[in-house]
This record gives sequence, C-alpha cells and structure tokens, in this order.
Amino acid sequence: MIDSIKSMSNYIDAYQKSIQEPEIFWSEVAAQFVWERNWDSVLKWNFQTADIKWFEGAKCNITANCIDRFALTMPDKKAIIWEGNDLNTGSKSLTFKELQIEVSKFSNVLKGLGVKKGDRVAIYLPMLMEGAIAMLSCARIGAIHTVIFAGFSAQSITDRVNDCDPKVIITSDSMVRGEKKINLKKIIDESISQTPQVKHCIVLNRGDEDINMNHGKDHWWHELMHEASSNCEPENMNAEDPLFILYTSGSTGKPKGVLHTVAGYMVYVGYTFANVFNIQKDDIFWCTADIGWITGHSYSLYGSLLNGITTVFFEGIPTYPDHGRFWDIIDKHHVTIFYTAPTAIRALESFGTSVFSSKKLSSLRVLGSVGEPINEEAWHWYHKNVGKGNCPIVDTWWQTETGGILISPIANITPLIPAFATLPLPGIQPMLVDENGVEIMGNEVEGNLCIKFPWPGMARSLYKNHHRFLETYFSIYPSLYFTGDGCKRNKDGYYRITGRVDDVINVSGHRIGTGEVEDAIEAHSNVVECAVVGYNHDIKGQAIYAYLICLDKTVDVKVLKNEIDKIVSDKIGVFSRPEQIQIVDGLPKTRSGKIMRRILRKIAEDDYANLGDVSTLLDASVVDQIILGKTKKISQS
Ligand code: PRX
Repeated sequence: MIDSIKSMSNYIDAYQKSIQEPEIFWSEVAAQFVWERNWDSVLKWNFQTADIKWFEGAKCNITANCIDRFALTMPDKKAIIWEGNDLNTGSKSLTFKELQIEVSKFSNVLKGLGVKKGDRVAIYLPMLMEGAIAMLSCARIGAIHTVIFAGFSAQSITDRVNDCDPKVIITSDSMVRGEKKINLKKIIDESISQTPQVKHCIVLNRGDEDINMNHGKDHWWHELMHEASSNCEPENMNAEDPLFILYTSGSTGKPKGVLHTVAGYMVYVGYTFANVFNIQKDDIFWCTADIGWITGHSYSLYGSLLNGITTVFFEGIPTYPDHGRFWDIIDKHHVTIFYTAPTAIRALESFGTSVFSSKKLSSLRVLGSVGEPINEEAWHWYHKNVGKGNCPIVDTWWQTETGGILISPIANITPLIPAFATLPLPGIQPMLVDENGVEIMGNEVEGNLCIKFPWPGMARSLYKNHHRFLETYFSIYPSLYFTGDGCKRNKDGYYRITGRVDDVINVSGHRIGTGEVEDAIEAHSNVVECAVVGYNHDIKGQAIYAYLICLDKTVDVKVLKNEIDKIVSDKIGVFSRPEQIQIVDGLPKTRSGKIMRRILRKIAEDDYANLGDVSTLLDASVVDQIILGKTKKISQS
C-alpha cells in the first residue's frame, strides 16, 4: 500500500513540498512502486508545446505492480469480487494469484493472435471479471487498450476503431442489465463489416446466446484460454510508453482519443487512491463506475489493485431486482468504501428511505461522489441514510484527461462542506482565470478552472493528434491546462465546481458533446438544422434539449421524437437521446452565424427573465418566437 496522509498538518506539509520541490515529492512517491530500471529525470515539461514527460528513462510494468508483487506476498487475498446482475447468478472472485494466472494466460492468447507491444486492442465488454483480465493482459504485454463502453452503438465503435486501428476486439455474446438483455456480438458484427483492419474478435460466452461466429476471425474466449500457458513475464515498458486510449467527448468534432502513459498514470492513480479514500489494508472498495469510463479504469481497476485492495465489480443496475440492490451488495460483501455518481444517489433518493430499515450498511467507512456536481440535498441524503452520519463523503473532481482525482477532500482529514470538492491534492496547482485568461486572485471568487503545473497522471496527447491536444487544452489560456469547468473558490480557499463552461453536457455523469448529438439529429430527413443544449434535470443532473428547424413543421412531434431517439441511439448510444425537442422557425444567431447557446439554455430552463444581452443577434425576434413555442408546448402537454 502506498503511504498516505495522516492529518491536516501532514496534508499541508505534503502540499507545500509538492509545490516547492515537485521532483523530490514525486520521486519519493514513485519509490514505493516496483521498477525494472530507475528514472534518469523526474519531470520534463513544456505547456506551450504540450510536451510532458515523467520518470523518463525508467522501465516498469503496471501489472507487476498491480498483480505480481501481491501474488507473491498475499496470494490468497481477493483481488476482485464480481457480483452478477441476477440474484441467482451469485458472485465470483479471483485472488491475486488467480488473477496472475488468468492475466498471464490471456496475455498469451493475445500474443498468439499476433498482438505485440504498441498494438491497439479494443474491449467492448460489460462489467465482467474478464473485462479486468483483458485490460490487464494488454498492459502486461504492452498493447494499448481502448475500452469502448458497452452502451455505445455500432457506429460509435466504428468511429473509434477507425481512429486507433486495433488488431483485435474483445466482446461477449450478450450483456444483461436489469431485465434487459443485449446481444453485443451483433453490434460488433455490424461495426466489423466497416472495419476490415480488425483481424480477430474474441468472444466471451456470457449468456449462451445464439450468435454468428465468423470462421477464421471470431474465436471463443474459453477455447483460446484452454490452450494458453499460464506463464507470461510482464513486458518491460518505458515510462512514457502508452498504456491506454480512452475516447471522450469535447465541444466540437468527433470524440477524442485521450492517451495515458504507463509510469505517470500508475504513480498518480496509486497515490490518489490510497490518499483520497484513506485506505486501510483490509478495505473492500466498490466503485460503481463501468470500466468503459475513466473512473472504472483508474479506481475500479488500477488504483485499488496497485494498493493490493479488493475491488468489487457489479454487472447490474441499482434498481434491479429492486432499488435496495446497492445496499444489499454493500452488506453482502462488507464493502467499506463506496464510490458512486450523484445521478445514482438522486435516482435512489426518489424511492424514499423505507428500504434502509432492512439494510445494515455497518461496514461502510468512506463514501465517494464523482462525475458531476453533487447538489447539497443529495449530499445530505447520502451522508445520513447511506453513511448513517458517520462516513465522510469525498466529492472527487477530475476528468478523463486528468487520469486521476485532482481536487477532493482526504477522507477523515479534510473538514467537509457539502457540494465542495474542497482542496487540491498534493502536486495540483489550480488557478481561476477570467475570460481573458487573467488570474483571479483571492477568495470568494469565481472563474474558469485551469491547472498551471503538470502532475504525473495527466494525459500526454490525443491519439495521433497532438495538435488537437495542444489546441483543446493548452491554447485557450496559453501555457495553462484548461479544464473546461467553471469553479468558485470560497473564503477558506475551498473549490466548488459549477459545471462545464463549454458545449459539453453531463447527462447522468455521461459526458456528451453537443456537436455529436447535433450531427446525429441532422441526419433525420426532416431536420434542416438543430441546436442542442443541456438544462438542469432533477435526477440526471443535466438533460438534453434539442431545438429543430424542420422542412415539414406540421409533423407529429411525438413521432418525430421517436425517430430522433432511434437515430441518436444508433449513431451514439441510448444515453445521448434528447429529453425534449421543440420545432422552431429559427435559431438565435449572431451576425457571424454563431448560435448563441447561452440563450437557448436559459429558455430550456424557463429562465426567460435572464436571457442577457440579445443585441448582437441577427434577428432578436427569433427568441420571442422560441419562448412562445415553448410556452405553447408546455400548455399542450
Ligand atoms: O464537469 C466535470 C465533471 O465531469 C467532467 C469530466 O467528465 P469525464 O471526463 O467523463 O470524467 C468523469 C469522471 C472523473 C468534468 O469536467 N465532474 C467530474 N467530477 C466532478 C465533476 N463536476 C463536479 N464535481 C465533481 N466531483
């Protein structure tokens, strides 16, 4: 386990040291990991060119750190506990020794299919133990994994595959979520017909589905594993070799392949896991995030295993077979640390508290929140009903690009204020700037959140597109990393994230680019143009509102909505469907043709009194027409 901060004064000292002597600070953290060769330099960086290198010259393998050292010292400790969707499926577990064997075997399977260091491997799997095995096996042989969330459509898979050219895709015949069963292989088949570069597809038999196996290309997981040797030494990786690519949405264009590298990511994720959650050696950690998202990568998988801590994987949903499922799993596996998203908390809150009378939840020590701002009411509900008033809530702020948590309380140490992510972790130098990039000093202020100094876990590039990396994150405010988030700093220097200031929408913790949804909707033959915005939603945090200019305005809106839902589900995924649509005559545009989304957001939230300056609009009467249309729409529904 990585050493962790023990008191507030300890935190202050660590923070000071990390700012004044960052290289010494991080080399002391890094010394707690297993290296094949030590680094020649701790840090080289230049935010003007977005070149960042940590631990250059060092050699290591993240699986030697996650698995091998614990397979030696505590072979029988559970590394992963898996809980199935259906109650009668029960649970399974793998010890560190068993995980070492499974990962070594699957590593040999990949090698047998010709996968070499530096090759990409796509993983399209639900929350199964095999998802962890597949990711770790890639890391063991130096292949770059790219996990595609199993809620994405065939078109989204194709876009990602065409960007990163994996040799192999790993999937399962089916997945189950609640009462829904989805044939994943069918979705892959649809995608593979457009991605000839994929040479092999490994299929896990999850549900005995009747699927089509393509001779020569498709292989059953269990058949390949049956023949594989259980010896596979970890590949010696350079510190800055790529570990994984994870696609995420931005304001514009296609999803970005965020690239993380081996050593910095390992050190940062291991360190933040141990510290933020105040980890004790017998903890059972459960993060409800799917491995398809960064939280699943960094804390369900890598962070916990890097500390030798048991991690829980859950295949299902919080409301199946009933809304007490999360609490039953906590009791069943004696979970001590529970990490989830505000949207799940709010959804469960809506069922009331009677469910808690039959749940103990006495094993819990620490609660966490991630992915979106947590409102105060949800914070208190979570604290009182789940944590029984005894468990600190760590409201952890971070991003796919940051690799790990940047601003968060340290459990049992940082005094909490509901809905505040509180203070930066050691090594993190946040800065608030105004629209011109001028630093906003002092407290009781609000601005755009930037980070001014590198940390080991930060993304190094966008796959095959360093220029876009530089443009997106380091050019808006030159020489600063720009997060895209707005943020307040209170009188005590505590940070409160207010949400995105760009055109990214956060629906139920899923990051969605407005541009992607607009492109999908505009594929509908009746839609000439559209604008999509996010608006506040009681459970999802934000929901999508789409304004549409249509060729035929007399169309039945319900029918149109169903058709648009289908298009968006096919092109992106079900989670990106708009909550509401409205047909409009025009969109509020500036003279240069830019859509003023600020106004559309206000209208979607019925905040007509605060539309702000409309004088720069080409035709301000459009705004009144949209408002009129919206009020009519409400009175008709
Ligand atoms: O807007 C912030 C929000 O989620 C965005 C990052 O999304 P993604 O890359 O998908 O990663 C999510 C999991 C780390 C951020 O720009 N966000 C994340 N955590 C918080 C948050 N907003 C407020 N409070 C948080 N704790």
